[in-house]
Amino acid sequence: MLNAQNVAQLDDVHAPKGIQRIRRLPDSQLGAMWDSIILDSAIKSQLVSQAVLNFTLRGKISRNVIPLHGVILLVGPPGTGKTSLARGLANRVADMFPRGGFKLLEVDPHSLTSSAMGKTQRAVSELFSQSISEAASAGPTIVLLDEVETLAADRSKLSLEANPVDIHRATDAVLVQLDQLAEQHPNLLFIATSNFPEAVDAAFTSRCDLVVEVPLPERTACAQILTDCLNGLAQTFPAIGQLARSNDIGALAAECVGLDGRAIRKMVATALSTSPETAADPSRLTMANLLLAARASKANRLKGARK
Ligand SMILES: Nc1ncnc2c1ncn2[C@@H]1O[C@H](COP(=O)(O)OP(=O)(O)OP(=O)(O)O)[C@@H](O)[C@H]1O
Ligand SMILES: [Mg+2]
Repeated sequence: MLNAQNVAQLDDVHAPKGIQRIRRLPDSQLGAMWDSIILDSAIKSQLVSQAVLNFTLRGKISRNVIPLHGVILLVGPPGTGKTSLARGLANRVADMFPRGGFKLLEVDPHSLTSSAMGKTQRAVSELFSQSISEAASAGPTIVLLDEVETLAADRSKLSLEANPVDIHRATDAVLVQLDQLAEQHPNLLFIATSNFPEAVDAAFTSRCDLVVEVPLPERTACAQILTDCLNGLAQTFPAIGQLARSNDIGALAAECVGLDGRAIRKMVATALSTSPETAADPSRLTMANLLLAARASKANRLKGARK
């Protein structure tokens, strides 16, 4: 269990049930993660502003004036950087409040819903009303609710035959707990993510202070992701730096439009494994390898979409 005393030694604390990881913020690794996600700067700025406002406003302004719940939701296709952005955002907020003593709790939704039948609701209630509430009592807390559709499933779409009543009740419990925590803990912020916004309960979405769609990268963003990836490789294999600076990056980026950021970075790995020789000596990577790998990734993606 997490209490005010042992939060002081977070690194030694065994995370309570339902919490996968607890970190002190700021954390430079998360700073690098935020920078590595290429996204319209207006969207990034909106996320930071909303998250910072949460901590400046909620403790001072009545919920009767502005009913903030302290929840930000990121939605978008798989591999678009939502989880990375959520972690990076937590870090950016902590950066804005030096000596704030922020921490980040990462919830593992599957460990709650895989509890024995009939226990999900209780596990969810305990997580929010005990572990999260105690952490927030000890200091500013940001909670990552990844794949939130698992915890706040749309009750109107769940068939009672296929989905046990337990899951319906878990959604009820999440909503009740969010309301209570919003009242009790102004220094708490949830950052939730979902690939399936249509599967998230409307009452959950309605409690979100900001819902942001994280899109697939357009052409310029694809070029930036490719350049970032190739420059990263060039730190170890300097010859690859020439590819990052090549005029053909634009054409390669055009081939990547339609892929998500994860797929683009993986495509570069595919290009590196074009032959045993390139794999053994990545400095041999060529633009032709990259173009072929990009076309193959796109073709696979389209084939997957038609299935
Ligand atoms: N816009 C982007 N710019 C740069 N890199 C990106 C971008 N989107 C994704 N990536 C890369 O893809 C990897 C996966 O990102 P992440 O796990 O955050 O995506 P996600 O949206 O949470 O995916 P999922 O929905 O499958 O959970 C990241 O490590 C990052 O390197
Ligand atoms: Mg994710």
